[in-house]
Amino acid sequence: MNTAIILAAGKGTRMKAQLNKQYLLLKGKPIIIHTLEVFERSPLIDEIILVINKNDVELCKKNVLKKYRLRKVTKIINGGKERQASVLNGLSQINPKSQIVLIHDGARPLVTEEIIKSCIEGAKEYGAVSAGVPIKDTVKIIKEDGFVNFTPKRKDVWITQTPQAFKTEIIKNAHRFAATEDILGTDDAMLVEQMGVKVKMVVGDYENLKITTPEDLITAEAILNYKRRW
Ligand code: CTP
Ligand code: MG
Repeated sequence: MNTAIILAAGKGTRMKAQLNKQYLLLKGKPIIIHTLEVFERSPLIDEIILVINKNDVELCKKNVLKKYRLRKVTKIINGGKERQASVLNGLSQINPKSQIVLIHDGARPLVTEEIIKSCIEGAKEYGAVSAGVPIKDTVKIIKEDGFVNFTPKRKDVWITQTPQAFKTEIIKNAHRFAATEDILGTDDAMLVEQMGVKVKMVVGDYENLKITTPEDLITAEAILNYKRRW
């Protein structure tokens, strides 16, 4: 079986909103519901573990989730201080029969069933994958003083997205390894890489953006409007 861990335990500081960004409305529906519904719809997902912030329990359970039928959400658990700790909490709660784990940012509501499928197929074949897209701009790697260190070839640089998907044992081992070695990663694939296991990139979608700052919400609405029209 395949498990999705959906992360919604951040604080959303860069969004500068009154409430955690996952509960802001996107075309009249909370962002986190958009995200959960894509995973709920995917026939390849068997269970969803939702990781939330302790302070949002009431808001999430009583005011948001209750209104939507999400039968695959089997557990709602508290997150940790850092994203990595939230993932670790999620991993501790997955069904023992789970073979593939997808880890996804609740703040990426425009994920699609196609991306989920590619990630699961990729994880089965390669063990560890991340959704991503080739970069459009040229990237400069800089030094601390702001001068350019070097310019990587554009074709070699990809933007990382989520979902990231793994064989269960690999991601559990990677988090154990990170805890032992005191590694704090900004994504889960990084922990797998540091453990010495190869990660394959699978093609995501430029539209699979992470809602981080207020203008991202405007972009996401525009994308949804455009999709509905077509
Ligand atoms: N996240 C989490 N637990 C944390 C930190 C982040 O579950 N301790 C989740 C967020 O809820 C989000 C995803 O990880 O869905 C990506 O993180 P980010 O976009 O950075 O969200 P926040 O940390 O909430 O925002 P900010 O960094 O602006 O405070
Ligand atoms: Mg953050």
